[in-house]
Amino acid sequence: MEYRLKKENHDFWVERLKKNQERQVCTNDIAFDDVEDNEILKRIEDDKSILEIGCGNGVLYSKIAQKLKSFDYLGTDFVKDLVDVCSKKSNSDKHNFIQQDMTDITSSSFEKKYDFIISKRAIQNVLEQDLQIQTIENLGSFLKDDGLMVLVESSADAQKRLNLARKKYDLHEIIPPFHNLFFDDERLKNHEFKSIKLVEISPFASDFYYITRLIYARYAKEFLKEKTNYDHPLEKIANSMSENQHTKDFSQIQTYIFKKK
Ligand SMILES: C[S@@+](CC[C@H](N)C(=O)[O-])C[C@H]1O[C@@H](n2cnc3c(N)ncnc32)[C@H](O)[C@@H]1O
Repeated sequence: MEYRLKKENHDFWVERLKKNQERQVCTNDIAFDDVEDNEILKRIEDDKSILEIGCGNGVLYSKIAQKLKSFDYLGTDFVKDLVDVCSKKSNSDKHNFIQQDMTDITSSSFEKKYDFIISKRAIQNVLEQDLQIQTIENLGSFLKDDGLMVLVESSADAQKRLNLARKKYDLHEIIPPFHNLFFDDERLKNHEFKSIKLVEISPFASDFYYITRLIYARYAKEFLKEKTNYDHPLEKIANSMSENQHTKDFSQIQTYIFKKK
């Protein structure tokens, strides 16, 4: 489907593949990327089938292949060059990789249903809310009856709360990059999906964002008089806070979990 800035979005990912080393094609923050991946890895199991939306250059795919002994996998992405890189990481004939725009997925796109449908900051690239929801709906028709859809995506609601707190300390507003439209949690919670239901939104990164975007941001601005950087010890502490969250409101990235109705 056509949607706002689709070509620019596609070209943005092509450029990132050209300019960055492998681990930084799909993120600038490698340490936090590991935390995001764990949100998906901890929920998937051996001897099941996995459909990944936006497989990119296969950072998550490689970790799945390390964790599981045996699994069926279909990796999809709308950037052909990324799909090619991802597929080169595989040596299993049970793993397939195709170029596929997620907004073009229809009830006939795939031949079978999956135990797990996963994405990591992929659906938020679709810059229209109705189309994001329609895409999740269409994906739902490929989920097995006891399957799980695990989407690690950004939340506009959490970002708003974060910005409100930042404002009190004169920290600038965080604005999503041009190629992202963060999820509208209330809309997702209230939307009546045909075949799936949203069963949980897990704010697994609330402490991480609280520490990095509030505490460390204040420390850097008010005391260190420097810009924040991903190598600072407070970033490392924040990264270690992924179990047993002490806060819940600031998880700019969350895990959205859907099951079959
Ligand atoms: C954050 S990256 C995902 C990273 C990857 N899963 C990994 O393990 O690092 C988001 C991916 O979504 C893909 N993407 C963006 N819009 C898409 C669309 N309309 N259809 C399919 N893939 C899309 C991008 O090409 C990019 O590879």
